[in-house]
Amino acid sequence: MFPEVRMRRLRKLKLIGESKLSTDDLILPLFIDENIEGENKKPISSMPGQYRFSIESAVKEVLEAHSRGIKSVLLFGIPRRKDETGSEAFNKEGVIQRAVRQIKKDVENAVIITDLCLCEYTTHGHCGLVENGSVVNDPTLEVLGKIAVSQAEAGADIVAPSGMMDGMVKAIRENLDKEGFTETAIMSYAAKYNSALYGPFREAADSSYKSGDRSSYQMAFSNAREALREVELDIREGADIVMVKPAIFYLDIISKVRERFDVPLAAYNVSGEYSMITAASENGYLNREEVMMEGLTAIKRAGADLIITYFAKEVAEVLRQSDK
Ligand code: PBG
Ligand code: ZN
Repeated sequence: MFPEVRMRRLRKLKLIGESKLSTDDLILPLFIDENIEGENKKPISSMPGQYRFSIESAVKEVLEAHSRGIKSVLLFGIPRRKDETGSEAFNKEGVIQRAVRQIKKDVENAVIITDLCLCEYTTHGHCGLVENGSVVNDPTLEVLGKIAVSQAEAGADIVAPSGMMDGMVKAIRENLDKEGFTETAIMSYAAKYNSALYGPFREAADSSYKSGDRSSYQMAFSNAREALREVELDIREGADIVMVKPAIFYLDIISKVRERFDVPLAAYNVSGEYSMITAASENGYLNREEVMMEGLTAIKRAGADLIITYFAKEVAEVLRQSDK
């Protein structure tokens, strides 16, 4: 008799689910703009459904996310004042420092992750200090160390360096430890590709570079083995969590990192991934909810423990409905 094995027997029972999204795994990115006052928030035109928040409205957003089971947020700051060296990034009264203190005060058990980079804070928009037209590595490390300490001081649970500078994790760990912040964790953007999918984010975070590009620090999309070297180095330097970014075009990288290393792995479902699905569904070409769930479950299936996604609140809602 053939077929002896009938795969459809169990499939129709819908009993076996190998990968399942959970609100515990989701991290919601938020943009906090110092130029926005009171309870206001401002829509981001390239990311329909996403906003820039004031500190006050951000607190409300974190509370709402919390009530839906999303307890972790990743904060990006947009300062009122930018300069050549990004000095607002380590101002005690800077937008992120104030936001972190306020969220810690108002939201019990919030896990706060702070983006640790210079591009939102510098006039040139690069992720490091610029000298004679190029981004210089080692002087940047000193600034990153200072920013890390000021974010930890404000109450950040995890700092997330996103600039792809060599040695950034080690420099940050040393600075944090020296100042007594041994409990502050580091989530490193270990394998961050130079991706066109960041386009909408740069409007959202006002972090476009004014000249050049990011190819001297972010990875070429043709490379996979290089990602494993990047991850290995960051682990050796003390990263608590490593990240692959973007996510859906890079599932092979997520899967390779998962197989090779045992550290917690995060994947960043980036702005362009969000905006593509949003635009296609607004045009009626795709079903937003279905594509969202399929894409995010694929990231999980590839091996990510944590997913940073603008869809976090919506996924939580879908999960809640399906649990009923
Ligand atoms: C910058 C940074 C970028 C993102 C997060 N941090 C963009 C860039 O490298 O230009 C992208 C996130 C997204 O697209 O959602 N350090
Ligand atoms: Zn940056």
